[in-house]
Amino acid sequence: MSKITFVEHDGTEHVVEFEAGASLKDIGVGNAIPGIDGDCGGECACGTCHVILAQEWFAKTGAPGPDEEQMLSMTPERADTSRLGCQVQATEAMDGMTVRLPEFQM
Ligand code: FES
Repeated sequence: MSKITFVEHDGTEHVVEFEAGASLKDIGVGNAIPGIDGDCGGECACGTCHVILAQEWFAKTGAPGPDEEQMLSMTPERADTSRLGCQVQATEAMDGMTVRLPEFQM
Protein backbone atom coordinates (compact mmCIF):
# COMPACT_ATOMS: atom_id res chain seq x y z
CA MET A 1 0.00 0.00 0.00
CA SER A 2 1.26 3.46 -0.91
CA LYS A 3 1.77 6.13 1.75
CA ILE A 4 1.50 9.90 1.93
CA THR A 5 2.65 12.07 4.83
CA PHE A 6 0.49 15.05 5.75
CA VAL A 7 2.36 17.68 7.77
CA GLU A 8 0.34 20.10 9.85
CA HIS A 9 1.40 23.74 10.19
CA ASP A 10 2.99 22.95 13.57
CA GLY A 11 5.06 20.13 12.09
CA THR A 12 2.91 17.25 13.31
CA GLU A 13 3.17 14.44 10.78
CA HIS A 14 0.49 11.96 9.82
CA VAL A 15 1.50 9.03 7.63
CA VAL A 16 -1.51 7.49 5.90
CA GLU A 17 -2.03 4.76 3.35
CA PHE A 18 -3.91 5.51 0.17
CA GLU A 19 -5.23 3.87 -2.95
CA ALA A 20 -4.57 5.39 -6.35
CA GLY A 21 -7.52 7.35 -7.73
CA ALA A 22 -8.52 9.05 -4.49
CA SER A 23 -8.00 12.80 -4.24
CA LEU A 24 -5.59 14.27 -1.71
CA LYS A 25 -8.62 15.92 -0.11
CA ASP A 26 -10.44 12.60 0.26
CA ILE A 27 -7.34 10.93 1.66
CA GLY A 28 -6.84 13.73 4.19
CA VAL A 29 -10.47 14.05 5.25
CA GLY A 30 -10.94 10.28 5.24
CA ASN A 31 -8.11 9.97 7.72
CA ALA A 32 -9.36 12.89 9.87
CA ILE A 33 -6.18 14.89 9.27
CA PRO A 34 -6.47 18.25 11.07
CA GLY A 35 -5.99 21.22 8.75
CA ILE A 36 -7.72 19.99 5.61
CA ASP A 37 -11.46 20.49 5.39
CA GLY A 38 -12.98 20.12 1.93
CA ASP A 39 -16.21 21.96 2.71
CA CYS A 40 -17.61 21.84 -0.83
CA GLY A 41 -17.10 18.10 -1.14
CA GLY A 42 -14.48 18.35 -3.85
CA GLU A 43 -16.22 20.67 -6.33
CA CYS A 44 -13.33 23.18 -6.52
CA ALA A 45 -15.63 25.79 -4.97
CA CYS A 46 -14.45 26.42 -1.41
CA GLY A 47 -10.65 26.39 -1.25
CA THR A 48 -10.62 24.64 2.13
CA CYS A 49 -8.56 21.74 0.86
CA HIS A 50 -5.45 23.86 0.21
CA VAL A 51 -2.23 21.87 0.33
CA ILE A 52 1.36 22.85 -0.38
CA LEU A 53 3.60 20.39 -2.14
CA ALA A 54 7.35 20.11 -2.31
CA GLN A 55 8.62 21.28 -5.71
CA GLU A 56 9.50 17.79 -6.95
CA TRP A 57 6.02 16.52 -6.13
CA PHE A 58 4.29 19.59 -7.49
CA ALA A 59 5.89 18.89 -10.86
CA LYS A 60 4.41 15.38 -10.82
CA THR A 61 0.87 16.55 -10.11
CA GLY A 62 0.66 18.94 -13.05
CA ALA A 63 -0.45 22.55 -13.08
CA PRO A 64 -3.71 23.79 -11.55
CA GLY A 65 -6.58 24.27 -13.99
CA PRO A 66 -8.28 27.66 -14.47
CA ASP A 67 -11.01 27.10 -11.85
CA GLU A 68 -8.49 25.83 -9.34
CA GLU A 69 -6.19 28.75 -10.08
CA GLN A 70 -9.01 31.17 -9.38
CA MET A 71 -9.76 29.55 -6.02
CA LEU A 72 -6.06 29.46 -5.12
CA SER A 73 -5.75 33.18 -5.87
CA MET A 74 -8.07 33.82 -2.91
CA THR A 75 -6.34 31.38 -0.61
CA PRO A 76 -4.34 32.65 2.36
CA GLU A 77 -0.79 31.29 2.53
CA ARG A 78 -0.72 30.64 -1.21
CA ALA A 79 2.64 29.26 -2.26
CA ASP A 80 4.20 28.59 -5.67
CA THR A 81 3.50 24.90 -5.18
CA SER A 82 -0.04 25.23 -3.80
CA ARG A 83 -2.80 22.94 -5.04
CA LEU A 84 -6.33 22.23 -4.02
CA GLY A 85 -6.34 18.73 -2.62
CA CYS A 86 -9.62 17.87 -4.31
CA GLN A 87 -8.09 18.50 -7.72
CA VAL A 88 -5.11 16.17 -7.28
CA GLN A 89 -5.78 12.50 -7.89
CA ALA A 90 -3.30 10.31 -6.11
CA THR A 91 -1.32 7.87 -8.20
CA GLU A 92 1.02 5.11 -7.16
CA ALA A 93 3.85 7.38 -8.30
CA MET A 94 3.00 9.59 -5.31
CA ASP A 95 4.07 6.91 -2.83
CA GLY A 96 6.25 8.71 -0.29
CA MET A 97 4.90 12.18 -1.06
CA THR A 98 4.80 14.80 1.68
CA VAL A 99 1.89 17.25 1.74
CA ARG A 100 2.18 20.38 3.85
CA LEU A 101 -0.98 21.97 5.24
CA PRO A 102 -1.43 25.72 5.75
CA GLU A 103 -2.11 27.19 9.18
CA PHE A 104 -5.56 28.34 8.10
CA GLN A 105 -7.97 27.21 5.43
CA MET A 106 -10.32 29.83 3.92
FE1 FES B 1 -13.73 22.54 -1.91
FE2 FES B 1 -11.46 21.39 -2.73
S1 FES B 1 -12.95 20.58 -1.42
S2 FES B 1 -12.23 23.34 -3.24
